[in-house]
Amino acid sequence: MNIRRVVLTGFMGSGKSTVGPLLADALGWNFVDVDQEIESRSGASASFLFQTLGEAAFRGYEFSVMSMCLDTTETVIALGGAAVDLDIARRLLSVCNDCWIVFLDGPFDVLIARCLSQEGSGDATYRPLLRDREAALAHYAIRREWNREIAQQIIDVSRSAGEAIAASIVNRLLP
Ligand code: S3P
Repeated sequence: MNIRRVVLTGFMGSGKSTVGPLLADALGWNFVDVDQEIESRSGASASFLFQTLGEAAFRGYEFSVMSMCLDTTETVIALGGAAVDLDIARRLLSVCNDCWIVFLDGPFDVLIARCLSQEGSGDATYRPLLRDREAALAHYAIRREWNREIAQQIIDVSRSAGEAIAASIVNRLLP
């Protein structure tokens, strides 16, 4: 197995940005968070871009940043929760032979509760979906199917802490 990058995917609140740096440290690799990369490349906040460009253009931009991240090696990449909404993004991920795609899965209520507590502590990315619980549930269900299709490893994040999740990914990667 010649894996050159790990891609973390999952619904908002699944811990991609928490597990990512822990995993990168354990592997001695770099960590890239696509949401943060969008902000540092554009010089604007995701919320500003989303509101100014509109959702479709924002998703297109997010896809181009994700593609650039996939050009790197020895990198752990945390996708935004909505990355898999685009058919082209799912296809790109599914043909990435040297990517190890990990779906951080968990019950809807647990993930939403985590997002709300992150919002309360001011420690959160811009999450428009959080305002509409019914839409969030519909997105959760369809993204769960898509994430299950593209992932090589699926982890229930409600059962383990970030360190244990990172360790279980390392265990699958190292011989
Ligand atoms: C989104 C999740 C966010 C962010 C954007 C949209 C979503 O990423 O990309 O606000 O629709 O689920 P996280 O999964 O990192 O929260």
